[in-house]
Amino acid sequence: METLRDIGYTIETAVADIIDNSISAGAHDIYVDFIWQGASSYISIRDSGHGMSEAELVTALRPGSRNPNEPRDPSDLGRFGLGLKTASFSQCRKVTVFSKPEGSSVCYWAWDLDYVADTGFWNLVKPEPAYGLPVLLNQQKSGTIVLWELLDRVVTNAPANDEKAHAQFLSIADTVKQHLAMVFHRFLERGRFKLYFNENPIKPWDPFLKGADGAQPCGEEFYQNGAVSVKGYVLPYHKRLTTDKFAEAGGSRGWNDLQGFYIYRNERLLVAGSWLGMFKKEEHVKLARIQVDIPNTLDTDWHIDVKKSMAHPPYGSAGPLKTFAKAVRDKAIAVYRNVGRINNPGIPIAHQELWLERKRHDKRHYEINRHHPLVTAFIAKYPDAGSALNNLLKFVEETIPIRSIMIRETESPEEQAQPFEQVSHEPIKQAASAMFQAQCAKGKTPDEARNLIFSIHPFSLFPEYVQSLTC
Ligand SMILES: Nc1ncnc2c1ncn2[C@@H]1O[C@H](COP(=O)(O)OP(=O)(O)O)[C@@H](O)[C@H]1O
Ligand SMILES: [Mg+2]
Repeated sequence: METLRDIGYTIETAVADIIDNSISAGAHDIYVDFIWQGASSYISIRDSGHGMSEAELVTALRPGSRNPNEPRDPSDLGRFGLGLKTASFSQCRKVTVFSKPEGSSVCYWAWDLDYVADTGFWNLVKPEPAYGLPVLLNQQKSGTIVLWELLDRVVTNAPANDEKAHAQFLSIADTVKQHLAMVFHRFLERGRFKLYFNENPIKPWDPFLKGADGAQPCGEEFYQNGAVSVKGYVLPYHKRLTTDKFAEAGGSRGWNDLQGFYIYRNERLLVAGSWLGMFKKEEHVKLARIQVDIPNTLDTDWHIDVKKSMAHPPYGSAGPLKTFAKAVRDKAIAVYRNVGRINNPGIPIAHQELWLERKRHDKRHYEINRHHPLVTAFIAKYPDAGSALNNLLKFVEETIPIRSIMIRETESPEEQAQPFEQVSHEPIKQAASAMFQAQCAKGKTPDEARNLIFSIHPFSLFPEYVQSLTC
């Protein structure tokens, strides 16, 4: 039993595993409470599910109470008949389960690892019920409470008035709350049950930001005779989001870490943001997130682990999944690189971009497009300055502080000002107007001229100025 403590649960995956049982038991309300009392702090998870009779409870407390090869109800979130025990022991030395099926009174039993170690008896025990929990449960029609005490993996021996230890406990509680908001977001979104954390309702956290300014869908495929579905999403670049929405979408792990596959089993999230060893996580791919839905009948194929925090595609699906992911990644990279830029397909890119990526002796470098209208307009106006301008541009190109830009952009993309952010827009207006006049003089209609200018970066970021151009 001591061995079962170390199979790799974190506190958040452990609490989520207990909640899976509540969901499988049909609960409509689930209450998670983290109660700080120093070394005697405790955690309880109470649900309004169908509960268990005493005989069922005793069976439920036996490790390996179910055979993983037995078919399960399609909505059952359980797997190995282990979770209740392994998840609990991973965090505490004493777990008590109180349960009440409809029409009966509360029954309860506990596993106490100290009792097992001291006596050598592998028996359940019946401690004095604490914290008025049976009374609380008796007020419900049916339900179950899982109580974790002696939280040796969560708290130290610090007394209740130790502020530092208390703050640490609250921070752990917050991590758990965020994890639950993510893992169960689809259930919470459609109101399948309500989840409360220290009595406050948990709001769902949707990795795809569905809704008005959310992710763009990017392809859909089905594998294993239609049982597995895969949907790609490319999230909007941060400039298109409000600061709050940007922070929310980054969660506590940050945007970069959240890219990748999101694997759901019966709508319950197992894997959140991983490329499953197929690709590396990279800054410029951070807008790609892919939803994968599998049913619980494919558990063995997908190698679902006891902690329900891992899954790996079967051999036959891994190849197509990688190809699919590659397409979503490419789209995400294009959005990341072309922030806010709208290319007019009728005009070659070389005439629109101010900066071009080029190769020189097999090495990459960046050049200012000498055919860009801003450059050609300058040379037309000051023909004698052509070579001086060329010199200046060459120095700019050769000395771009590319490494520090890259590091800063990775560390804090939101601190990077956008083109012409909070500076005078006069230069844009003037340049746009001059180009517009030049195009009209060349015989373009005002609409054609406006379209052309709108296709040029960075004018494409300011459609309002382009629209107001008139001859
Ligand atoms: N909250 C609960 N309400 C009703 N039954 C429960 C609850 N928690 C656990 N059980 C019962 O205990 C069994 C064992 O749970 P667990 O060890 O988590 O394994 P699994 O979920 O894989 O079956 C479950 O199959 C279920 O029958
Ligand atoms: Mg379970």
